[in-house]
Amino acid sequence: MQNQNDKDLILFPEYPNFNLINHPLVQRDITVLRDTATDCETFRAAISRIANILAVIISRDLSIKEVEVESPLEKTNGYKLTQEVVIIPVLRAGLGMVKGFLQVIPDAKVGHIGLERDEETLVPVEYYYKTPKNLIEHEVILLDPMLATGGSASAAIAFLKKRESVKIIFACVVAAPEGINKLKEDHPQVKIFGAAFDRELNDKGYILPGLGDAGDRTFGTL
Ligand code: PRP
Ligand code: URA
Repeated sequence: MQNQNDKDLILFPEYPNFNLINHPLVQRDITVLRDTATDCETFRAAISRIANILAVIISRDLSIKEVEVESPLEKTNGYKLTQEVVIIPVLRAGLGMVKGFLQVIPDAKVGHIGLERDEETLVPVEYYYKTPKNLIEHEVILLDPMLATGGSASAAIAFLKKRESVKIIFACVVAAPEGINKLKEDHPQVKIFGAAFDRELNDKGYILPGLGDAGDRTFGTL
């Protein structure tokens, strides 16, 4: 259960499914990402650092169990995670968050979901799916830097649920109210963690003020 006075998170009564990360280094890096002058290498590094902090904060909710461990001197009690973690980046832009998560949870498994928004209709189309089997036995964290209309995230979660009924956390860098509301309607049990909460979408479905096309800026395909 989340602590309402948690210094690391800002909660919004009207968006109960959304947790905004509250950290000065995240705010500094969001500014780096927004800046059109930021080059591809610097953009990637900033996404990775944000993913790092998201991973630390999200993983506080993971459960652990006691195990015995033998130190060079004697047996003692230690802890291990109760469930293995699977991170699932939504291709392409979600890939930019993988390194930051693996630095914090190095033994996490990595699945992939390929989705692309049709630029005309904004409807997401699935083009790739590969995850570990028995997802239900894992903690699943879905990664995508942008939650805009929420169409892609909602579809990715639906694709996961279609294969297996799983508990999913959604981690993003920038979230728009429209996307948060869509997930609240479509998948109310999914908790969203984001590093920035932006104002609105423009008529092309881009987040304002946003950071532009996250996939293109991560991979230099502008
Ligand atoms: C971007 C982003 C999300 C999606 C968000 O991907 O990474 O997946 O848009 O928008 P939505 O909330 O309105 O669905 P895009 O479709 O541009 O593909 P890419 O990652 O391959 O660039
Ligand atoms: N996808 C992006 O990459 N950026 C946006 O602002 C919206 C969707």
